[in-house]
Amino acid sequence: MRVTFEPGYRTVDVPSGERLLVAAWRAGVALKSVCGGRGKCGTCVVEVAKPTAGVSALSEPHGDEIALLPEGGAERGLRLACMAHVLDDVILCVPPESEAVRSPPRKPYTVASIPPAAVVSHLTVDIAGPYDAPQRPLSARIEEALARRAGKRHPRILAPVLGDYSRAPAFDTALSVTATLFEDREVIRLQPGAGAGLFGVAVDIGTTSLVAFLCDLEVGRILGVRTAANPQAAYGEDVISRMTHIQREPALLTQMQRLVVAELNRMIEELAGAAGIRAKDIVDAVAVGNPTMQHVLLGINPEPLGRGPYLPVFCEGASVRAEHVGLEILRNARLHVLPMVSGYIGGDTLAAVLTRDRDFYRGRNLLVDIGTNGEVVLANDGRLTAVSCATGPVYEGAHIQCGVRAAPGAIERVWIDAAGSVRTGIIAEPRRRGEPRPVGLCGSGVISAVAALTAAGILGADGKFVAGSHAQLRPQAGGHGQEMLLAPAKRSATARDIVLTQADVRSVQLGKAALRAGIEILLKESGVAQLDRIDLAGTFGNHLEPNDILRIGMVPPVAVERIRSIGNAAGDGARMALFNRYHRRRAAKLARDMRVIELTMRPEFQDLFVGCTALTPGAVQPLPA
Ligand code: FES
Repeated sequence: MRVTFEPGYRTVDVPSGERLLVAAWRAGVALKSVCGGRGKCGTCVVEVAKPTAGVSALSEPHGDEIALLPEGGAERGLRLACMAHVLDDVILCVPPESEAVRSPPRKPYTVASIPPAAVVSHLTVDIAGPYDAPQRPLSARIEEALARRAGKRHPRILAPVLGDYSRAPAFDTALSVTATLFEDREVIRLQPGAGAGLFGVAVDIGTTSLVAFLCDLEVGRILGVRTAANPQAAYGEDVISRMTHIQREPALLTQMQRLVVAELNRMIEELAGAAGIRAKDIVDAVAVGNPTMQHVLLGINPEPLGRGPYLPVFCEGASVRAEHVGLEILRNARLHVLPMVSGYIGGDTLAAVLTRDRDFYRGRNLLVDIGTNGEVVLANDGRLTAVSCATGPVYEGAHIQCGVRAAPGAIERVWIDAAGSVRTGIIAEPRRRGEPRPVGLCGSGVISAVAALTAAGILGADGKFVAGSHAQLRPQAGGHGQEMLLAPAKRSATARDIVLTQADVRSVQLGKAALRAGIEILLKESGVAQLDRIDLAGTFGNHLEPNDILRIGMVPPVAVERIRSIGNAAGDGARMALFNRYHRRRAAKLARDMRVIELTMRPEFQDLFVGCTALTPGAVQPLPA
């Protein structure tokens, strides 16, 4: 059956009976699926284009689905993609609020070039001809030449490498050969003559999005960057939902691993094409991600990460043959996955730490990476301590009444102007002219709205709307209690009011309390009373306004200019480990030396958490000694 998704006219052929949600991901359409496709959240709404009365290309909607759709939605042709099954060719429209695609990070990287000293290198040698005496087989002639040139013993050239080489024209009569060496000891590729360049790929596998960098390993330069949504989102937007799916149906581990690798292969193919090389010319790869993403990438069941004592199956960095995970680069190339520190502190956090300068390690500084989980690393006079805080999905724009991803159309900033009107800053579509129309609130927009309303006295420190506190702005009664209108229906792209509800404020309070309580325990444990600076990593950190997070007490007080966004630090760190072998060793040492505080084991956490829900700047109540 042919399924077509508009706008964009993306089509896919699927077997009859396939779920629409799976069809969407196969077509490269990233649909929201907050509950992981379990028919609980109502976020995966699509609309059947030109529905024909009496003829349905989809299975009939049943009661549970109709109850989750907006009122009258079933009659208008709205369907939940996770509950509708494809029975015939169909064309569907994806409303903007159902799109899960995250806009590319504004700063996909901050460090553009890194001094190269890659684990792969080239060695070009002259070899004896096939008729030269004494007559020796090709492999022996190459090995002897390599040994002479490198001045040390070389490993054997394995049959697959010779097999690939033997397909080059005039391979047996070439008088010089370029060997690509892995860690100076293993030949992974042979090319006649001078050989092509050394190319590598670094990937950052986020729960929501993927970033891939194609790099020239000889000069330490980025050749191209691609971003895409993580297709595993068809099984839930957070790692817990995905683990639950795997727990219920272990075969889904392979399915999820294949999904992410297929998407990476597509990105790599595109990058290679744009750079004028073949994907098979890529000789090294590095991947980072949170522990669940790293487990799934390597085909290791992440299930122990989801239950106490939350331990990973493995922590060490892993170097595997790229072909073992299905990565379609040079057949004998390695994929190196950075080490993990604990069940919640993964290679992505470690990669972000790798990018920090000397001053960071020497001072009293925080690195904060916030997503559905918040990872915080404190540097204190050269010692590193980390915590992981369950901030929840609020910062991804999920579980918020008008929540959307940080994509074009999302409100990312809210303020109240001098005339007492609510103003909004909206993420604009690149190269599109005119005033963008808002679709909803992304994570930074929710934080910004709460901060602006708190500053104006419309929200109290307890997070409740304060009646009559502002001359012009008053909360209105909504379907679920009080709410503040941020953009009226006539101005929004969805023709619905965009509001901040009392429940949204509560979600922000809970998320920020988890983070702040974790930070407070980290500081107390390390004996740090005052921070020098705070570095915000990740996409969410890129969009945050330092004044907003200080105003609601999400981070401890520090001068506003000492809070800075550091872009996609995980991607930068992955490239450092790709370009330079020294950084791989450093990552392994950091993982060994970093201390982790397990918040679930701390009895004081709960009291502290409750205290941190207050929307006030400044210090929280000191913990008892
Ligand atoms: S209802 Fe949650 S993904 Fe469809």
